[in-house]
Amino acid sequence: MPFAITPFTLTDDLAPIIAAWRDAFRDPPSSYRSLADLEDQLRWHGTFPGFTGVAARETTSGAVLGMTYGFSNRPGQWWRDRVAAAIGPQQTQALLDDSFCLMELGVVRAARRQGAARALVAALLARQPHPCALLSMQSDNRSGRNFYLATGWQIVIEKMSFGAGYLPYDIFQHPVSLTGT
Ligand SMILES: CC(C)(COP(=O)(O)OP(=O)(O)OC[C@H]1O[C@@H](n2cnc3c(N)ncnc32)[C@H](O)[C@@H]1OP(=O)(O)O)[C@@H](O)C(=O)NCCC(=O)NCCS
Repeated sequence: MPFAITPFTLTDDLAPIIAAWRDAFRDPPSSYRSLADLEDQLRWHGTFPGFTGVAARETTSGAVLGMTYGFSNRPGQWWRDRVAAAIGPQQTQALLDDSFCLMELGVVRAARRQGAARALVAALLARQPHPCALLSMQSDNRSGRNFYLATGWQIVIEKMSFGAGYLPYDIFQHPVSLTGT
């Protein structure tokens, strides 16, 4: 299934991107979230500094096969401040202060193991300006863990708690070189 990676912004038609996200996150261990949830989250995160989104589109039909997006981590943001509290001031300075937060990487089930996620992450990291990227993922997501460990990410914290009612999450980081990912 040949595909191309293209950037998206909040002014694009988000419906096919959100539909691809729903297919990608349909199976356990992903927790169910509604389409409206993701759309609200995207529109909120789209106002953050450094917001960048990329989609994988099937070359002939243009169908969206996968997506991810991210933004600059800044003090005051919910995710950034919880991770900073967990890693402490020294690691916060080294890892978080000039970093990018990668969110919602998903590839539709019919298009997996064809390099789409690898290409999405490479394209996203190439478009953002920070020397380091971070993400969190549910600790019980085995395929996600295999993907990130196979593509150069390292675990910074295992089984972090974001608070009552949250499942444990692992925090991953990836250095970004100036010449590529
Ligand atoms: C995780 C996910 C994004 C991977 O997407 P993908 O397009 O299939 O991944 P790629 O084809 O780019 O895989 C690159 C490499 O990662 C590893 N990998 C990817 N999926 C894997 C799996 N299920 N099991 C083991 N290794 C895997 C392999 O080393 C693979 O290379 P190979 O196929 O040559 O062996 C996809 O399975 C998905 O959308 N899962 C549901 C959503 C999710 O969990 N997202 C991540 C957390 S936010």
